[in-house]
Parts: sequence; structure tokens; C-alpha cells
Amino acid sequence: MTQPLGTSTATSAPSLSPAEGATPGRPLVSVRGLTKTFGDHRVLRSIDFEVPVGTVTVLIGPSGSGKTTVLRSLNVLETPDTGVIRIGDVEADFSTAVTKRQMKALRAQSGMVFQAHNLFPHMKVLQNITAGPILVQHRNQADADSDAMQLLRIVGLAEKADQYPYQLSGGQQQRVGIARALAIKPHLMLFDEPTSSLDPELVGEVLEAMKDLATQGWTMVVVTHEIRFAQQVADQVLFMDDGIIVERGTPAQVLTTPSSQRARQFLRRLLDPI
Ligand SMILES: Nc1ncnc2c1ncn2[C@@H]1O[C@H](COP(=O)(O)OP(=O)(O)O)[C@@H](O)[C@H]1O
Ligand SMILES: [Mg+2]
Repeated sequence: MTQPLGTSTATSAPSLSPAEGATPGRPLVSVRGLTKTFGDHRVLRSIDFEVPVGTVTVLIGPSGSGKTTVLRSLNVLETPDTGVIRIGDVEADFSTAVTKRQMKALRAQSGMVFQAHNLFPHMKVLQNITAGPILVQHRNQADADSDAMQLLRIVGLAEKADQYPYQLSGGQQQRVGIARALAIKPHLMLFDEPTSSLDPELVGEVLEAMKDLATQGWTMVVVTHEIRFAQQVADQVLFMDDGIIVERGTPAQVLTTPSSQRARQFLRRLLDPI
């Protein structure tokens, strides 16, 4: 594995080094009292959790339990109704008026990888990765290109830089999606079921790339039903149901000996679907 990037000359963007943006002794991420209602549907009913720097948090739970809404709130793609989100040294209290500038600052703290890749189809792989750094962070082309090449090496796709997304397999596209999320130099990486739309034989390469990031010390929040990945990589597992975190702990606690009936039932169905 290549070392994480740390050589950028850009001053506006944080350096791409996993542990940066963290204050010693303080979790990188803190979420308190998060609520979100769509119409009259209370989707998040008070979510609290913390993510220590350099650790992996896996979020599991039934469909509709609010997992994606938690991730989208962290990335401020969704505006929570109430609650406080702090990532690194950027904090927003959604119970009060949050300015656009605050939202932008919070959003810049995390990179997100979605369920289905959403690469720009008309751009080559390299451009897909450099678009954010150049257009949003106003970094210069040469720096952005060289960082993007290094990121492609990290996800094992340096030879694909000049290809278009349609020329890549689904697994390769997801790995480009990971490189693209890393390119904005986030402090936190968010993954929303990154392997669930892939053919089974392509799941492994994406999980491997994610494992590599965890080994390098990236702080990650991952929604996934890949239980073996969670067992091997997660530091904490949060089990969500109906807008609350019902159970939390180590993978052994939550996945092997869950204490709640709801978690037991969910895991039984997951491991033995028919
Ligand atoms: N933009 C939205 N408008 C209305 N309802 C939504 C919206 N986004 C999510 N929901 C609803 O919120 C609930 C939780 O969704 P989600 O966070 O996607 O759950 P999960 O990721 O756990 O499947 C679901 O019932 C979903 O239909
Ligand atoms: Mg979801």
C-alpha cells in the first residue's frame, strides 16, 4: 500500500492524512440528539454516538431504520431538525439557525461513497477524481492530477486513469468512487452500502480497498450488511431500528451476542435469509 498523501501544496484544503483534523483525546465525530422528520414520519428519533479518530464504525439495521439519513446528515446532504454534529473542529447545532457557510464547512469534513456509483459518465476516471478538488476547492490542475494518480494507485486502478466509467466493472467503478471521495481530503469517510449493488464476485475487491483504508488509519462510518467485514474491521457496531440506536458495542457484542430481541431477529434473518 502507498502512503496516504501528505505532500500537497494547497493551503485551503486539509492535507490527506487520516489522523489530521483531530484533537488528541477527543473523538473525531460527535453526534448528539439528532432528529429528522419527513412529513409526519419521524425517521431519526434521537441519535447519539461518537467516533474516535482512526476507528471504523459499522451501522447496521433493517431497511428504513434511518441509516442513510444518519450518513446524509453527517455529510449535510440532509438538514437535521435538531441535534449537534461535530466533525473535527467544525460543529453545527441544528436546533439553532445553521448558516450556509457552516453547512459547507461541515460537508467538507467528510467524503461519501454511495450505494451505486455516481461517477460522471462523460468524464474519464482521472477527471472524475479531480473535478471536486479543482472546481470546489480551486486546487491547481497539476497538483490535483498527481494526487488523483496516487489515489488511483491506492485503490489499485492507476492503469484506468484514461478510461471512461462505462469501460470499468462495477467493482472498479466503486473503487474510483472511493478515490473520488478521498480526493477532497476529508477527515472522515462515509460509506452507504458500497457493495450492495455489485455482483457477488466483485464485492471482495471493494471491501479489500476499504480494509486498506482502515489499516492506514482512516476514520470511517460504514453502512453495510457484510457481517464478516464488520467482524474483521469494525471497532464499534451500531444497530439501528426505527430511528434509534438500539444496541451498540464491539462486533462481538452486537453481532455475536446481541442483547436485544430486535437485533437478534435481524441478524438471524441476515445470516439465514430463507
Ligand atoms: N427525502 C425523503 N423524503 C421522505 N422520506 C424519506 C426521505 N428519505 C428517507 N425517507 C424515509 O425515511 C426512512 C428512513 O430512510 P433511510 O434513512 O433511507 O433508511 P435506511 O438507509 O436504513 O434504509 C424510510 O422510511 C424512508 O422512506
Ligand atoms: Mg439506506
